Amino acid sequence: MTAESLAELGRKLDRIVSEYLKLRYQGGKVISFPSGKGGVGKTAITINLAAALALKGKRVLVMDLNFALPNIHMFLDEAPEATLTHYLGGEAELDEVIGKVFVKDTHFDVAPSESIVDFKKKINIEKLNDAISLLKTRYDCLLLDPAPGLSKYVFYPVRLSDHVFIVSADVRPAYMDAMKVLKLLETSKINHEGFIVNMVRGSELKYFAAMNVFAVIPYDGHLKKAFLAGRTVFHSKMGFLSPSKKYFEKMADEISSTFLSNSQST
Ligand SMILES: Nc1ncnc2c1ncn2[C@@H]1O[C@H](COP(=O)(O)OP(=O)(O)OP(=O)(O)O)[C@@H](O)[C@H]1O
Ligand SMILES: [Mg+2]
Repeated sequence: MTAESLAELGRKLDRIVSEYLKLRYQGGKVISFPSGKGGVGKTAITINLAAALALKGKRVLVMDLNFALPNIHMFLDEAPEATLTHYLGGEAELDEVIGKVFVKDTHFDVAPSESIVDFKKKINIEKLNDAISLLKTRYDCLLLDPAPGLSKYVFYPVRLSDHVFIVSADVRPAYMDAMKVLKLLETSKINHEGFIVNMVRGSELKYFAAMNVFAVIPYDGHLKKAFLAGRTVFHSKMGFLSPSKKYFEKMADEISSTFLSNSQST
């Protein structure tokens, strides 16, 4: 390779990097919710927070990144032709994988996934970078709902996120796994905004009392019932009875004012 073609390659790389940084710092924010332990409420938090943000006028996209046991499709009112799994497997275009969830007089968008157990082809998680770069220009925020654990399918999207919240329940096994996620973030120099401690019974935190806690969400039988029906607490006519509803509203207020302040909608 000549010195000239090397210099041209260098300029090309510079252009790609500056385009990437432009997209990273402009447009919507990417927010992810890793957990360590499974079943602590990542999906419940993502979908209820999406509804709360949409009701505040934000343009929201939820992306289901749990490619083993996806759940987000349960909430769809308008299903897309294909899923994110198809997109990452090179079987669909991005615009074909976005569906809708209606809530009151508004909606938020959802990119559901299909389990790789049922999917014949391999997925390329690195294609997520292209998807996120493009989608950030269309939404105020992208909420990423990952699988539990610390696999590359969790770590790669976390790396692409502007803001990371570690989700846990206030019980020892979940706390221990959340600490492993925290350690991995710290050794990888990835900031996190705090823990979201879910399904809390009582007024005192036990394991997270001395930690950086962004939000506490109470145990809520109404949320559980709504979740099983593929709905959020904001859909339910009995939503006023839901103890978690005001916590999601508060979280949406804080996320909007702290992290989405430059977004275009109100
Ligand atoms: N605050 C809450 N109160 C009561 N039930 C809850 C609460 N949050 C979540 N749940 C229930 O706990 C179960 C697990 O929640 P969810 O599927 O959101 O967890 P997850 O972390 O996404 O799980 P996975 O790791 O398998 O993806 C669901 O039945 C959900 O309805
Ligand atoms: Mg989940």
